[in-house]
Amino acid sequence: MRKNKKIRNLLSETRLHPDDLILPIFFDERLSDVKTTASMPGVKTFPLKGYGEIGHNIEDSGVSTVLVFGIPGKKDSVGSEAFNERGVVQKAISGLKENSDLTVIADLCLCEYTDHGHCGVLDKDGWVKNDETLELYGKVAVSQAAAGADIIAPSGMMDGQISAIRRALDDAGFKEIPIMAYSAKFFSAYYGPFRDVAHSSPDSGDRAGYQMPCGNRREAIREIELDVAEGADMIMVKPAGPYLDIIRDAANSFDLPLAAYQVSGEYAMIKAAAANGWINGDAAMMESLLGIKRAGADMIITYYAEEAARKLRL
Ligand code: PBG
Ligand code: ZN
Repeated sequence: MRKNKKIRNLLSETRLHPDDLILPIFFDERLSDVKTTASMPGVKTFPLKGYGEIGHNIEDSGVSTVLVFGIPGKKDSVGSEAFNERGVVQKAISGLKENSDLTVIADLCLCEYTDHGHCGVLDKDGWVKNDETLELYGKVAVSQAAAGADIIAPSGMMDGQISAIRRALDDAGFKEIPIMAYSAKFFSAYYGPFRDVAHSSPDSGDRAGYQMPCGNRREAIREIELDVAEGADMIMVKPAGPYLDIIRDAANSFDLPLAAYQVSGEYAMIKAAAANGWINGDAAMMESLLGIKRAGADMIITYYAEEAARKLRL
């Protein structure tokens, strides 16, 4: 049964397809030229221009969906730029929608926009104020939908964020915009390189007060159940590689489309090992993605999206 590649392909239980892959993409309003980041080889941060070419290059790889992040020129304690109608991410979303056929998912959080780097507003002791943050998330969601986002993806892990955002979107007339919930997002060391790119490290403390403890498998199911009850249209497990059991649990327990986020650290580790000649980078890329698919993910958010899609189309 393993005699040649054709037979092995015939019997393959799991397949990757470019349509499964979602590319995270960064825009920084302070830039005039494309920027790179050492800890994320091959990942570009774009200035607010050239949307047609950016979109064309992505679509040319076979990828049709992006997850957009913005880095604002100024930050404040409540992350006001996150809900500025003419803010960085709103401009990026409308630029991409007007100049490409990409499906645009908007990441919704405050950590790139707050001067303290936390995902919500803080009280005087430095704790995140959950319910005050929900009001702001509602405003961000409406501004992103107004800019043309196809899907809203809240990543801040506040309690009740899905119902708050659903209500805000409905009230503003965006009843048809689906929510992709970062439901089981773990407190992870693997987000490090992302924070270099997105300038979103907390300046004091950490995110352990709102992101999930990494050993908790049952709690992940509870978190997803809550999001489903609140109206999530799609659910997510994040990171992916170190949490394949959670992906499998979620696939077995829920009928909603399931995304898994292969995060920056997962990507950076493979890139670094490959750059040193310690691992075959292409093969490890495909194996890591196939493993996530096999675990049960319908969609994979990955910095490898374009590279993998091109390889799949060969
Ligand atoms: C913001 C956000 C983070 C990621 C996606 N959205 C970082 C964090 O929670 O600190 C991580 C993505 C990655 O590491 O690739 N809430
Ligand atoms: Zn955040």
